[in-house]
Amino acid sequence: MEEPVALVFEDTDKLAKGFSEFFMKLLDQKEGDFNVALSGGSTPKIWFDHLAENHRLDIDWNRVHLYWGDERCVPPDNNDSNYGMTKLHLIDPIQIPKTNIHRILGEKDPKEAASLYANVLLNNLTKDSIPIFDLVILGMGEDGHTASIFPKEIDLWNSDELCVVATHPTSGQQRISITGKVINNANSVAFLVAGENKTERVKEIFDDEPHAAYYPASQVKPIHGTLHWFLDVSAAKLINDD
Ligand code: 6PG
Repeated sequence: MEEPVALVFEDTDKLAKGFSEFFMKLLDQKEGDFNVALSGGSTPKIWFDHLAENHRLDIDWNRVHLYWGDERCVPPDNNDSNYGMTKLHLIDPIQIPKTNIHRILGEKDPKEAASLYANVLLNNLTKDSIPIFDLVILGMGEDGHTASIFPKEIDLWNSDELCVVATHPTSGQQRISITGKVINNANSVAFLVAGENKTERVKEIFDDEPHAAYYPASQVKPIHGTLHWFLDVSAAKLINDD
């Protein structure tokens, strides 16, 4: 794996702008379909708004296929749904073919939803046996979780499955998440992380502190691809420049 790249922005608006530029560069570098796994959380939401407002018309959305790295086990119109959030902030404002949207069916029985989504990934994104995303977008929680793999269930990261059922450690809400084998097989992985409450986790991961191994976010190491951290100054406060 190449060394991870950290890009630090003054605030979340600048982070969103910087990430849009990165996204469009990746799009330009590839011909044909571009398959991206989206994330839930507050920072992607700011990016969706930025994209919808500034790049609604200058991106060829026919080429972009939207997938999700994780989903809460709720119906799509529930406030907790990652698909629902994306629909409101990105899908509705842009013109993207319905056939380019590949959501996780959070309203189904969780095990069934995980297995159905694994089949979608296998059918659409596999040359051999592990799906290859052009880009996986991730957030990181204050506890070091990423996608919906939480520290308490870190074993799920190394699951043989492509998609698993996870449980939020405090709310008990069930989630569907892609696993480490899918994330680390992507051509490009990008974290969008902002806020003071992430500062310590970011530092521990960047300094490769022994404790960081308990954070699923520290396990993101694309085998053939690149890893970029898009951070705001608060989240990056304790990272060394060297
Ligand atoms: C989700 C996620 C999750 C999220 C982090 C960070 O569905 O909740 O995909 O992994 O990205 O919890 O969220 P924030 O950006 O809101 O801190």
